[in-house]
Amino acid sequence: MIASNRPASRLTRLELLREIGLSPHWQLRESPVAVSATPAVPARPEEALAHRTGVDGVAAAPARSPVLTADDRAEEIAGMGWEQLRESVATCRACALCQERRQAVLGVGDVTADWLFIGEGPGAEEDARGEPFVGPAGKLLDAMLAAIDLQRGKDVYIANAVKCRPPGNRTPEPAEIATCAPYLKRQIALIQPRLIVLLGRAAAHALLGDVGSLASLRGQSFAYPAPAGSAYGIPVVVTYHPAYLLRTLPDKAKAWEDLCRARTLMRAAKTAAAESASQPATRPT
Ligand code: URA
Repeated sequence: MIASNRPASRLTRLELLREIGLSPHWQLRESPVAVSATPAVPARPEEALAHRTGVDGVAAAPARSPVLTADDRAEEIAGMGWEQLRESVATCRACALCQERRQAVLGVGDVTADWLFIGEGPGAEEDARGEPFVGPAGKLLDAMLAAIDLQRGKDVYIANAVKCRPPGNRTPEPAEIATCAPYLKRQIALIQPRLIVLLGRAAAHALLGDVGSLASLRGQSFAYPAPAGSAYGIPVVVTYHPAYLLRTLPDKAKAWEDLCRARTLMRAAKTAAAESASQPATRPT
């Protein structure tokens, strides 16, 4: 638990490290997915039923729009801007998670951020407030960000593998992750982050596929496919989910190692970008 009532941005580094359970030993040092073909859940089930049966003696109305195939839907989402994406996520009924949500939670932060953190899915507080990571795990995430000189909303975007709260905060099913994947992919394409940090197994599953235990993914090098116009893939770092770290204190030190590695990779990515920007353009001979 985060003991202090002050926001992470107001704590000293030592206080931060203490809050995330790493002080005094851990000081900052240098150092695609198949989309489910499940038919969309109707916006109002009773309306869909009326269409089918023609209740009240009214002839069944034709469907207002043809049901999109998973590929059509993914293609449509891949062409969306932020406003369309926000609207589409807010009204999405592509999987059963929509049935118990209060609201869908798209993400929060700087849409031109270098850093993209991806979690699992909204919990109860996120479902109520419409923002990712605002509960206890979010407080720890904020402290982890601050420990590497980052702040929610400043050069950081936070998203989830699924945009609707799984009932009872259960882990999202692979099919739910796959159905939501086009939204996550579009967010990545719009943000074009320099680095992606995957928080926990569901996030790893969403981006890397079913690739094994989280412990086996930590420390490995992954690259998300290069965005349009870039020759380089986006480096991906896998680490533990903050909610897991709240329950498993000894693994906080490993998460700290992962964050330090992410910071080093970010520096390298920025250096490489600066060097390539300073290269003289090659002229046709
Ligand atoms: N856990 C997550 O993975 N995401 C949230 O937004 C909140 C808790």
